[in-house]
Amino acid sequence: MYRKILLTAVAVIMWLGAYAGEGMWLPLLIEKYNIDEMHAKGFKLSAEDIYSINKASMKDAVMIFGGGCTGELISDKGLLITNHHCGYPQIQSHSSVEHDYLTDGFWAMSADEELPNQGLKVTFLKRMEDVTIRVLNGVTDDMNMNERKAAISKNIAKIMEEAVEGTHYSGLVESFYYGNQYFLFVNEVFSDVRLVGAPPSSIGKFGGDSDNWTWPRHTGDFSLFRIYANKNNEPAEYSAENVPYRPAAHFPISLKGIEEGDFTMVFGYPGNTSEYAPSFHIEMLANFIYPKLVDIRTAKLNVMNRYMAADRGVRIQYASKNASIANAWKRWKGEIRGLAKMDVVSTKQAYEKRFDEWVNSSDDRKAKFGNIISDYENIYADYSQYRLVRDYLNEYIGGLGLETICISRRFERLLALYGDSNHDSETISTIKAMTEAQLQMHFKNLHLPLDKETATVVLEMLYQNIPSAFFPDITENINNKYKGNISKYIDEVYAKTFFISQQATLAFLNGFNSGSVKKLNSDPAYQLYKSLTDVYQQKVLPRYNELQNRLDSLNRIYMAALMQFDNERTFYPDANFTLRVAYGDVRGYEAGDAVRFLHFTTLEGIMQKENPDIYDYHVPERLKQLHAAKDYGRYELNGTIPVAFTATNHTTGGNSGSPILNARGELIGVNFDRAWEGVMSDLMFNPDQSRNISIDIRYALFIIDKYANAGYLLDEMTIVE
Ligand code: ARG
Ligand code: GLU
Repeated sequence: MYRKILLTAVAVIMWLGAYAGEGMWLPLLIEKYNIDEMHAKGFKLSAEDIYSINKASMKDAVMIFGGGCTGELISDKGLLITNHHCGYPQIQSHSSVEHDYLTDGFWAMSADEELPNQGLKVTFLKRMEDVTIRVLNGVTDDMNMNERKAAISKNIAKIMEEAVEGTHYSGLVESFYYGNQYFLFVNEVFSDVRLVGAPPSSIGKFGGDSDNWTWPRHTGDFSLFRIYANKNNEPAEYSAENVPYRPAAHFPISLKGIEEGDFTMVFGYPGNTSEYAPSFHIEMLANFIYPKLVDIRTAKLNVMNRYMAADRGVRIQYASKNASIANAWKRWKGEIRGLAKMDVVSTKQAYEKRFDEWVNSSDDRKAKFGNIISDYENIYADYSQYRLVRDYLNEYIGGLGLETICISRRFERLLALYGDSNHDSETISTIKAMTEAQLQMHFKNLHLPLDKETATVVLEMLYQNIPSAFFPDITENINNKYKGNISKYIDEVYAKTFFISQQATLAFLNGFNSGSVKKLNSDPAYQLYKSLTDVYQQKVLPRYNELQNRLDSLNRIYMAALMQFDNERTFYPDANFTLRVAYGDVRGYEAGDAVRFLHFTTLEGIMQKENPDIYDYHVPERLKQLHAAKDYGRYELNGTIPVAFTATNHTTGGNSGSPILNARGELIGVNFDRAWEGVMSDLMFNPDQSRNISIDIRYALFIIDKYANAGYLLDEMTIVE
């Protein structure tokens, strides 16, 4: 039934003259699997133009931006564009109440005004290669999971070492199709990346978390950075001597615009999908885990939003933290809804039934694959519990919202070093300096009343949501000394811990020595953190990892079996934050009964959403003036400015900031989100409703040129009119 549903949907869409955009394809294999279809859909370039090791190609202009986004080069002087929300931590770290770049925006009017960003890196792919045979060399079917893993790691280490020997590149081997295939990636990493421009949040984050994950959308979600290199055009740490990086390729920018049905391609780094997961996995997430994670984040956000609304300083301090808590929270809600509406669990169950029938119709297959589905069922019965507790505890010790409790995490490396008798003083001082920077940032962004209230609220939830077998040891103390009154207990923790004081915490860091462990052990905030971490480490992870190992091995066998069972289908590998090509077309969608969305939005929509009483819908004065004067220049379209558009490309988290290209490989937009009705595409793509959302590049240029008067930046771009 799974396949049938898909086929019907595809048929209907083809009949409308378009096609579904499902799939995240490997650049190296475009020639083999995709280029013919891409040409049939209007793409004008060759597979070599996308990925080549013999000549400059698009891949030379696409990068991993920071740790989880994509960015692309738009000039031959290292200028790159990504999302505003991807540059957010940097924009925020340069901001204070005096220089509030989050609120006011930031525009370097010349190279010397660009702002360096410690720790920010961008990564380019130099080449990739199928190394499956070498990775699996010596690996046999009778190895247990640990032996298998050890053999594979050993092979991988050797491959990576050889691949980058004598170069400044770094190597990475990643598993595809759950360990059925392996690719080597050779990367070049740049670490002098400077902030060039960012619109105010009232443009770059217009609509905020209210509009996040929804369409129609009016967010100008872009920011500009520049990569610097040494005199040899090679990566170098920040230095005033560095010069703008001269890339082999950058994207030309098209002002020609888009029509519904136009070919589109997204080239970037999708993070994580599970398209082939069994029904049990979907059931676990949608019915069991996501609802609980949604609840705990709702509680965190309620506290945070209240404090942020009341104080501008707190709003700045918590802007970035709030956005990251709210983002997954809202997506989970959308996924729960989408999975139920699409009836994904039953669809997968029906597919598994057909799979089992196929298995059982041959003795050979029965021997090899006969237990897969029932094994899944058994493992998930247990795994779901452990996965829930793991994810739930992560909401405590992961640092998202309980910062005083978690601050001791910052001392873990020092603790480990002092535990090791032959530590050298140089490593210690490097780590101390790094920790000091982290602590400064922590205190700059800490509002204690908010932090304490959050701790109280969420600790109460812990006891209602995880089985008592996983309660931390500290519970006994809470019950005995505080009669189970969490609020009293937290009051005391915050009254006694030295971690609420910046001065005391820094003094503790600077005087850190082998005696410090004792002081740490008697601190009540650390005791709570430690108690939660102990459960996680001792009662959850060992069993969780064991079950995960069994699942990994089952997934590998199931994936291989599916490829035989469903042999007419071309399987694309699940996303794993490696470079992928998605292609589709510009298209609106039907969101529900009687609701049909157009594929694009305009400046008029911004004015319609404007609401001075709601922070997310403030419109900056200058934008209103430009609108009133219709001062649109060459970015004008039918008397307004195009702002964002939807297309059918299959994307996920990590694709933020990815270039969206037209049939000639010109930049028409920057990907930044997906539409609400289709966000379950990480688990199952719905061709009727899964849509990626991009900012129209003309809106970005309009903002740079007309709003910010930073038109000098356009001179270095290649603009196709
Ligand atoms: N939903 C987009 C993505 O997953 C944008 C997130 C940032 N924006 C926000 N309002 N939190 O990353
Ligand atoms: N906003 C997402 C990101 O940061 C992209 C949207 C999606 O998940 O597709 O990568």
